[in-house]
Amino acid sequence: MEASRVLDVLTCGELSVEASMPYSSNYTLLTTVSYAGLRLLGIYKPQRGERPLWDFPRGTLYQREVAAYLVSEALGFGLVPPTVIRDGPYGVGMLQLFIENDEESHLFTMLKAGGYERVIRRLCAFDVLVNNADRKGGHALKGLDGRLWAIDHGICFHFEPKLRTVLWDFVGESLPTEVTAAFCGMRARLDANDSLAQMLAELLDKAELRALRRRLKTLIDDGCFPAPGPGPNVPWPPV
Ligand SMILES: Nc1ncnc2c1ncn2[C@@H]1O[C@H](COP(=O)(O)OP(=O)(O)O)[C@@H](O)[C@H]1O
Ligand SMILES: [Mg+2]
Repeated sequence: MEASRVLDVLTCGELSVEASMPYSSNYTLLTTVSYAGLRLLGIYKPQRGERPLWDFPRGTLYQREVAAYLVSEALGFGLVPPTVIRDGPYGVGMLQLFIENDEESHLFTMLKAGGYERVIRRLCAFDVLVNNADRKGGHALKGLDGRLWAIDHGICFHFEPKLRTVLWDFVGESLPTEVTAAFCGMRARLDANDSLAQMLAELLDKAELRALRRRLKTLIDDGCFPAPGPGPNVPWPPV
């Protein structure tokens, strides 16, 4: 299905919850979405089902998931499945396209398999930019389409450094030229306060947006993958 069509279905479709997903720490619900004769599977995470965390403002995780999708799209990386905010049977939340995937695969197997070098560097740079506090091995799916898909961005965009990831393979390496170009393009859009800047301003608070712009500037100025900061740098459990 065409991407804009997928977004239409996610935005306007009727939701019917089928099951709750195993290994989830929040209410993560597998949902059928039907609209205008089209049907797809979605992952619905209602705000109400978010587990409270000490360091993230309560009830904001679903918005961060959508912000991560918008950033991935703005960069042209296509890492995050289409994700929207909408109302559902358990109230407002995020709804994301379910990616049919190979359950034997994850980030580590893709790293090893080869053929994913470019997309994994994109992912690594993306995680630095969004300040992802939870990039586990299982938060990268290998779609049946062969593509790497990044999921679970509920704890991104904190204003303090919180990057926790299993991907520390590229420290000190120069950012790929295409990544730097994408970052420069995004900076120009934020500087121009265009539609992206406005959508992000509805999803994140001012301090978080300032921190995002700071990280963008640092990545562009330094031009390389950063070293881990102090504090926990790897999520637990890592898979
Ligand atoms: N878009 C998606 N497509 C396919 N499977 C998904 C998707 N999002 C989540 N899942 C599955 O659901 C599980 C729990 O989702 P996750 O986003 O990690 O939720 P939580 O916020 O509860 O940690 C994942 O490990 C994955 O197996
Ligand atoms: Mg998870």
